[in-house]
Amino acid sequence: MKIVSIVGARPQFIKAAPVIKALREANHQNFLIHTGQHYDYGMSRVFFEELGIPEPDVNLGVGSGTHGWQTGEMLIRIEEILLKENADCVLVYGDTNTTLAGALSVVKLRIPLAHVEAGLRSFNREMPEEHNRILTDHCSDLLFCPTETAVKNLEKESFANIVNEGKLITSPHSLSLTPYSSPLALNVGDTMYDAILQFTEIAYQYSTILKDLGLEPKTYLVATVHRPYNTDIPEKLHDILAAFLEIGEPIIFPVHPRTRKKISELNDKLNISTGASNVKMIDPIGYKDMLILEQNARMILTDSGGMQKEAYFFGVPCITLRPETEWTETVGAGWNVLTGADTERIVKSVRSVWPLKDRPAIYGDGRAANKIVTLLDERY
Ligand code: UD1
Ligand code: UDP
Repeated sequence: MKIVSIVGARPQFIKAAPVIKALREANHQNFLIHTGQHYDYGMSRVFFEELGIPEPDVNLGVGSGTHGWQTGEMLIRIEEILLKENADCVLVYGDTNTTLAGALSVVKLRIPLAHVEAGLRSFNREMPEEHNRILTDHCSDLLFCPTETAVKNLEKESFANIVNEGKLITSPHSLSLTPYSSPLALNVGDTMYDAILQFTEIAYQYSTILKDLGLEPKTYLVATVHRPYNTDIPEKLHDILAAFLEIGEPIIFPVHPRTRKKISELNDKLNISTGASNVKMIDPIGYKDMLILEQNARMILTDSGGMQKEAYFFGVPCITLRPETEWTETVGAGWNVLTGADTERIVKSVRSVWPLKDRPAIYGDGRAANKIVTLLDERY
């Protein structure tokens, strides 16, 4: 089989790495399209090097722009490639503009489309990702959900065929006469969990980040912020930074380029400075350094989707700087608290005592990528 994967933004390199590895092991022909949505060394290339992802067959070099321009440019350029490649199936990952552009190009060419990390919903339409994931799900043929909650979300949206807790449910809304020629959604587990299992041990052999930053395990916090609703509203960014300062404990803050730009643009308006404080702002770091930093942190403060899950995988309490999350199970299990950008709530949550709870295996058994490849084999 010839399988095309479309990636472009940091979390997609991590989600795709285990799938590409499993496809190669099963001797399928892999063709990799990088849209160029992320392009700095520390946002893109470092992940290819560290995760052993093969060089992309094409880099479309689209880069940054408004949502419509960026998505449109990707759509046009992806179509040109797909018209030449005769793919048996195309995989898209997550919920970025790269995901949506890939999905639209594929469905208009009537090539089978599979969505990895399907069925997630934040129910917050302020997020560009919410539109991207809903639209992508609704034009996919195979929907690889990371959790049972994701399957249930799709069931509520009347998908043609859903495998829920092992049982195939055919929707009365199905347009197809045979069940497998219409969309199929099922829980395979999370490929980000596969990645953690594949890379954490190697990360310990490779990373010197704790030594480089002079950190002892469990004596510091890790923070990341990049959601537009936190970075693009000066008051919100101010309130988050104010909380970081008030916390007083060492906070390692690898700063996303969007956020770096906003902090410097808004410096006067923000009237806040993290210089010579407990907050150490550094450039984005590679995946292996991040795994080590996360596992040894006392707590993680983030608005990242991936890092909420990584906190859970590692048993590190997480404070999510958002009013809601797609990863609701982590909240239900008592390992994640939603604070939004509220200074007082953030500080209070960092200072409160977190009783250690069980961590049920919500995200599969670490073999999501293999299940995906088996299902692609069966279907195509
Ligand atoms: C994108 C995704 C978001 C994902 C995030 C992961 C969309 C709509 N958003 O958000 O879902 O969580 O990636 O990190 O697809 N920039 C650089 N160098 C880079 C990349 C970006 O300087 O290599 C700067 C540019 O100023 C750019 C800004 O960051 O305008 C935002 O980049 P963009 O890819 O549009 O969105 P993200 O915020 O990264
Ligand atoms: N990550 C990283 N270096 C960083 C910040 C994040 O390797 O400096 C990893 C993180 O461990 C996780 C993924 O990037 O695996 C999450 O990406 P991001 O937060 O950019 O996007 P989101 O998950 O919110 O879509």
